[in-house]
Amino acid sequence: MLILAIESSCDETSAAVIDGSTKIVKSNIVSSQLFHSQYGGVIPELASRAHVEAISYVVEKALANAECSLESIDAFAVTTQPGLPGALLVGANFAKGLAVKTGKPVFPINHIEAHLYSGFLESQDIQFPFVGFVVSGGHTSLFLVESFTQYTVLGSTRDDAAGEAFDKIASMLGFPYPGGIYIDKLSATGDPDAFSFPVATVGEFQFSFSGLKTSVRNFLSKTFTQEIPENIKPDICASVQNAITEQLLKGLKQAVSVYKPKTIVISGGVSANSSLRAKAEQLGKQTNIPVIIPKGEYCIDNAAMIGLLASYRYTFTSPYSIKFSVKSSSLRSPRK
Ligand code: KG4
Ligand code: ZN
Repeated sequence: MLILAIESSCDETSAAVIDGSTKIVKSNIVSSQLFHSQYGGVIPELASRAHVEAISYVVEKALANAECSLESIDAFAVTTQPGLPGALLVGANFAKGLAVKTGKPVFPINHIEAHLYSGFLESQDIQFPFVGFVVSGGHTSLFLVESFTQYTVLGSTRDDAAGEAFDKIASMLGFPYPGGIYIDKLSATGDPDAFSFPVATVGEFQFSFSGLKTSVRNFLSKTFTQEIPENIKPDICASVQNAITEQLLKGLKQAVSVYKPKTIVISGGVSANSSLRAKAEQLGKQTNIPVIIPKGEYCIDNAAMIGLLASYRYTFTSPYSIKFSVKSSSLRSPRK
């Protein structure tokens, strides 16, 4: 049972081939639109055009790396929401075209749900119920997950997503977009207690990063009238990273203590952050609850997670096509 999955919701064009029975990822190709960094955020129209240019190559490469032909694919899966409308349409229409050509079914997948269940790419032993934490450039949300079809949103950010806070503060420090990874790298040699930045106190399972952003902006403009000295940047990065990850951990701890899950699963781009990983591991040891975080390739946007969720959600016994439409979301408007 082979599934060819496609993801094109934002600035990554990705295709993957996954064995629906064994859940083995046979290939996962990701083409990242790095050129957006010069604009400081994702430009929707340019993203759509770049998806159009990349999609055929990415799909062909996914098939070639998996050593299989289009004819051997049993079903297609594609992200249909949420995302940039033009970007979503490229992947969805390409998948529909392949489905029509081959007479195989095509299944719609929600991008955030795919992140939520992406821990299963790391381990198939995840026990329900689990507390799922999706932390990306567009989302910061906690979930209580009962099964592959049943979950509850416990809480989300009231303003910026954690990745957005990382990226905006990175831009203040002069790093290119997306800057989360630069803050992470420089933090390795910095002191997380060098500067004290606020950790917002909001409602249970809720998050807020706009105050932190303002606080860092005010601190930088008051402290440095000229360029920010390079030798101070590691301490600033480590202190910012500490403030962001402390808040993330605070919400996660609340959810874990209230719902006592069997597993904790953290996913989305920010789950690649080394401080978040270290703190989450510590929480796992303290509570004796296994913590699953996908490896880097599956933290960022990727088609393997789309194919995987389709393999858990749908049975492929009778070939039929689900009718679907593409839905956009304000959550994925261009980030600046
Ligand atoms: O999941 P993702 O690839 O795309 C969205 O769905 O948004 O997440 C991208 C986000 C960006 O904000 C990026 O800066 C952040 O993940 N990110 C990181 C790290 N790696 C990626 N943030 C902090 N530390 C990292 N190591
Ligand atoms: Zn994502």
